[in-house]
Amino acid sequence: MKKILLSGIQPTGDMHIGNYFGAIKQFVDMQDDYECYIMVADLHALTTVQDADALRKNIFNVTATYLACGLDPKKVHLFQQSDMSVHGELTWILNCITTMPYLERAVAYKDKVANGKEASVGLFDYPMLMTSDILLYDPAVVPVGADQKQHVEIARDTAEKFNRIWGETFTIPEPLILESTGIVPGIDGRKMSKSYGNTIPLFGSDEEIDKAVMGIVTDSSGDVPANVYAIHKLFKTEAELAPLYEANKGKYKALKDALAADIKAFIGPMRDRYEEIQANPKIVEDVLRAGGTVVKARAQTKMAAVKKAVGLN
Ligand code: TYM
Repeated sequence: MKKILLSGIQPTGDMHIGNYFGAIKQFVDMQDDYECYIMVADLHALTTVQDADALRKNIFNVTATYLACGLDPKKVHLFQQSDMSVHGELTWILNCITTMPYLERAVAYKDKVANGKEASVGLFDYPMLMTSDILLYDPAVVPVGADQKQHVEIARDTAEKFNRIWGETFTIPEPLILESTGIVPGIDGRKMSKSYGNTIPLFGSDEEIDKAVMGIVTDSSGDVPANVYAIHKLFKTEAELAPLYEANKGKYKALKDALAADIKAFIGPMRDRYEEIQANPKIVEDVLRAGGTVVKARAQTKMAAVKKAVGLN
């Protein structure tokens, strides 16, 4: 029996190379060794995307990205979160054993509030929906970037609490965060993030990639531009980069050109596949429908066990 892996991405806009190296690449690398549940976290996206056409397009694009990056729907259960009504149902039960002060400590929520956002109830409760996403499938591991670590810890705490109150029901999941790519830096050196506007798009055009790379912030103090090098390391080994950076000491433009070329070479085949899928939307529809059917049966069985444990059957 393979161990179970679960993860997901919110369809909130264009994917960037931080999503790829922090999360998607892990899913692809692990798909042969684990029984994988990979979702498009569309209910989570509703906390920020409130334009129906944009949301539909984003859901399509995240699914197309998964496929283009190499997830094989014959091996992996790919599904849309909103197809599983039990995620919302479990969230309610978990809400009833979670305190407000506990959720007030969630960093993602605190950051948004600190940036002057008036939080919706959905944003506040975001970690409990994510907890339900995870616990319903009893995964051993949840591969994510470092920014999601606390959310997986909340899932662990909540599983333990539930099991204490109502008896052994949920597996305690482990976050899987890679040392080298847990925090992929953006073009300004901070964590790459849509909300910071510092991304390199995963499937941008060559011009968009060039523009993002030329925008990488460099300081003029050293031979090696740190932000360029940090991103370059994602695409080439340090041994491969050493002669290039030695030969181009202080030549930031040449190094950026080399980085842009390496990004395009790396992304090219995936981007071609992405464009093929864009031209044939039925691929995405079929994958989500097939994944949804299988996953629904499993999620409902688990939910029935949960209801029995709490006395709702
Ligand atoms: P989201 O959609 O913000 O990001 C998707 C994945 O990309 C990772 N990531 C990064 N990793 C490294 N460096 C970066 N700069 C970077 N930026 C983003 C994120 O850590 C994440 O792994 N709440 C989740 C989605 C979700 C989920 C789940 C994940 C919903 N339910 C259940 C796991 C399990 C989120 O907002 O990810």
